[in-house]
Order: sequence, then C-alpha cells, then structure tokens
Amino acid sequence: SEPPAPARRARKMAAAGRAWRAAVLLSPWRLRAPCRAYGAAAGGGGGGGGRRLLLGAAFALGGGTGLYLAAQHRLREHSAAELPAGDLQLTLYQYKTCPFCSKVRAFLDYHGLPYEIVEVNPIMRKEIKFSSYRKVPILLANAGSTLQLNDSSVIISAIKTYLISKNSLEEIVSFYPPMKTVTDQGKEVFEYGNKYWLMLDEKETKRVYPVKEVRVEEMKWRKWADDWLVHLISPNVYRTPREAFASFDYIVREGKFGTVEGFFAKYMGAIAMFFISKRLKKRHHLRDDVRQDLYEAVDEWVKAIGKHRLFMGGNQPNLADLAVYGVLRVMEGLEAFDDMMVHTKIQPWYQRMEEVIQKAEVAV
Ligand SMILES: *[C@@H]1O[C@H](CO)[C@@H](O)[C@H](O)[C@H]1NC(C)=O
Repeated sequence: SEPPAPARRARKMAAAGRAWRAAVLLSPWRLRAPCRAYGAAAGGGGGGGGRRLLLGAAFALGGGTGLYLAAQHRLREHSAAELPAGDLQLTLYQYKTCPFCSKVRAFLDYHGLPYEIVEVNPIMRKEIKFSSYRKVPILLANAGSTLQLNDSSVIISAIKTYLISKNSLEEIVSFYPPMKTVTDQGKEVFEYGNKYWLMLDEKETKRVYPVKEVRVEEMKWRKWADDWLVHLISPNVYRTPREAFASFDYIVREGKFGTVEGFFAKYMGAIAMFFISKRLKKRHHLRDDVRQDLYEAVDEWVKAIGKHRLFMGGNQPNLADLAVYGVLRVMEGLEAFDDMMVHTKIQPWYQRMEEVIQKAEVAV
C-alpha cells in the first residue's frame, strides 16, 4: 500500500539528496578548489563551505568547461610561425567549452590576431601550473617580453587598447592592476576594477567613441554578458537529465580529458551538474522555466541593438557584440541553442556575427 503523500515526498527528497551527494562526492572535481575555472564574475559573492564545494564542481564543469561547439566550426589554431615579425605573439590557455574562453577567441578571431591554443585539462590543470592565477582563460602575450594577462575582460580590454593606442603592452597592462580581496570565507579572490574600460587618450577616444554614449553602452553590455548572460548557460544546458548528458558528452569530446577522467566527467559530471544547475538557478534567481530567462535576456539584447543597426557597434561589432556572441556560442549544437534560435529574435544578428568573424579569419 502507498504511504501517505508527505511521507512519499520526504522519501523522494531524501533519495534526491543522496543521489546528489553521491554525484558530487564521486566527481573528481570535488578535489579541486572552487571557482578557479570560471573567473571572478561567476565566483563572486559568498557562500558557506558546502556551497563552495558545490560551486567548485559547478565551475570546473559548468562554467569552466562550459560548452562550446567548435568542431563543426571553423576554429583553426594559428601557429606562431604565421605571425608578422615584431608583432604580438599570443598563447591562449583555455577550456574550449568555457564561455569566458569563447569570448576571448571571438575577440581575437574578429581582430585577425593569430594565437596558439593550449587546451587545459580541467582536472589536473598542469598546463597552467606555472601560474599562481588558476583560472582560465590566461593569455600570454609577447610583444618584446612575455606578459601574463588574466581574466577574459581584462585580456580583451588590454589587447584592444594595444591595437588602438601607441603605448606599450606593458604599460597598458599596468593600468589593470589586480585587486586582492578576501571573501567572508577567507578565500582570496582577484578583481579588476576597470576591466571594461579602454585606456585611451582623448584623441584615441574621439576616434573610437565619437559620442560618449557609445562607450557607456558598450561597457554596460559587456558587463551584462559577464554578470548575467553567462549565468543562464548552465541552468539551461543541464536543464533535464537528457540535456545534461548531451552537454557532457560534448564537453568530454571537445575538452582535454584522460579516458578515465572522461568517463567520470561524462557520467558523474552530468548527474552532478543536473542537480547543481538547480542550485545555480536559485542562486541567480532564475525562473522555474529557465528557458524563459534565456529568451528574455537574448531578446533584451536584440532590442538594445534596435532596428537601425547591424550590430551594437553599428556596421561592425563592438566589444559587447563579441562578448555576447562568445557566450552564446558555447551552447551551439545543444537543445538550448536550438530553442533559443526558434523562440527569440537573435538569429539574424547571430548569423551576421558568424559571417563577420569568418571573414576576419579568412583575411588573416
Ligand atoms: C596574472 O597572474 C599572475 C600570477 O598570479 C601574475 O604574476 C601576473 O602579474 C598577473 N598579470 C597581471 C597583468 O596582473
């Protein structure tokens, strides 16, 4: 005979809790400190120890490994040999499927800057052992001497500034000092205060931003991409168990995993992320139907561009266009992406972005 409803519910919840704990505990990511993979934007805010463990797993995968469908795409790795002499030599340390890394690639590709890619194993991360900054993306930039740029938005602002101004990269980078802060849990995190600001003099500013509003708008939407749009990805791509498995299948295919790691990632990771994404949903105050938040965000973006511009940057994308495109691109090939294309007005802009970046790449 059936137990009464409240008892049934309690039993169900206990089972769900056990499944979730097992998934997280068995997941190899629990061994990792939290958030490193995801960047300060996602890691911001506090949380207790349990929550940190949770977020650690979430960011190592959901954000850090994130999702990005490059396979059917034209992403090509540039070799250092192609570089024009005396120019910038760039090496990007990344997880292919992480939205922050995708953002940087969109920026570099659009600007026709060649770069080498080092795919980082999200579990051992020995590729970035040289750095005490433990998140990806990291960009090593050599314009005479090698500089290590951290944080996707700092990377983009610094390199963009370098392309416009005559200052040395070293000098430009010094304008983005890392500021160490300590969270309530005693965890040290770095934040970069002016990371959306290009360090231009008056003349350069006039050339790039004829009116002030254009600059303010670009900064506003770059920040929006980091602080809001990115948080809609995990809850959407891990929305159902089926979607979570599809997402992890893709992550493992695209990422740099060992065989055993890959197996764990695919099965335990998918299960863990399915549950963790529910937590993230709450944390970021998303609606029950997370698609609605995604659709709304994307349509808000399209509306901000308006009917009279091809891109937010006008006839060419600006840094906000590149950021939003970079973030959304990680969902390509997944159900969330297809749903977004069908249920929002994003498609024409998205296709224009694809075309303009492809053109820039061919031109290199
Ligand atoms: C990036 O992080 C590394 C390691 O913590 C540090 O040595 C370097 O100075 C940082 N780069 C910048 C530009 O802040």
